[in-house]
Amino acid sequence: MAKKKVAVLISGRGTNLQSLIDACADKKYPAEIALVLSNCPGAPGLDRAGAAGAPTLVIDHQLYGKGPQARAAFDAALSAALEEARIDLVCLAGFMRILTPGFVEKWSGRLLNIHPSLLPSFKGLHVHERMIEAGVKIAGCTVHFVSAEMDSGPIIGQAAVPVLPGDDADMLAARILEQEHRLYPACVKLIAEGRARLTARGVVEFDNDVAAGAPMLNPNPS
Ligand code: GRF
Repeated sequence: MAKKKVAVLISGRGTNLQSLIDACADKKYPAEIALVLSNCPGAPGLDRAGAAGAPTLVIDHQLYGKGPQARAAFDAALSAALEEARIDLVCLAGFMRILTPGFVEKWSGRLLNIHPSLLPSFKGLHVHERMIEAGVKIAGCTVHFVSAEMDSGPIIGQAAVPVLPGDDADMLAARILEQEHRLYPACVKLIAEGRARLTARGVVEFDNDVAAGAPMLNPNPS
């Protein structure tokens, strides 16, 4: 089967991008990085893409100005670039832009995000600080399909980690990030193979033979 063409959208350091690059280096992995797109010209993740020989593109949101029209124009440029590259799957990986409902609708079922909490808890920003403040004992990360409302789309996979006494936000973030780097490639694999999908009812459906441990990495039930 032809490999699925993945675009990874980044704004920053790109460690999740790196985990996808590394996964795609395996000949048997069902996807390839066909485009790395950033809204920030200086995003360090662009160097990771360059080192891996992946095509890169910068669409600087600042050149579009502010307001709803600017946002729509930026998203239209994004969509055009993705279509031009014949992208099958779009992976948001630390992409710090809120996408318009039109964009989300257009790429529905083909648009994934990773978030550093066990959604639906702790949507939004400053997640690690907020989790420590709240005193949660189990944290983790989630890969989900993107819907119009931020961090609210149907969940594909999750991985849990403990919050340990004495943890600060950075320590917790590092523990979660380690799982993010396993979870994103695992979830992209399931979607790229067509073994998991977003249904018209807006839920994620898995083939019967998908092991329970495929979308739930930690703890591993299988
Ligand atoms: C990750 O924690 C991801 O879950 C969140 O943004 C961060 C991006 O990190 N959406 P990186 O750029 O992939 O290193």
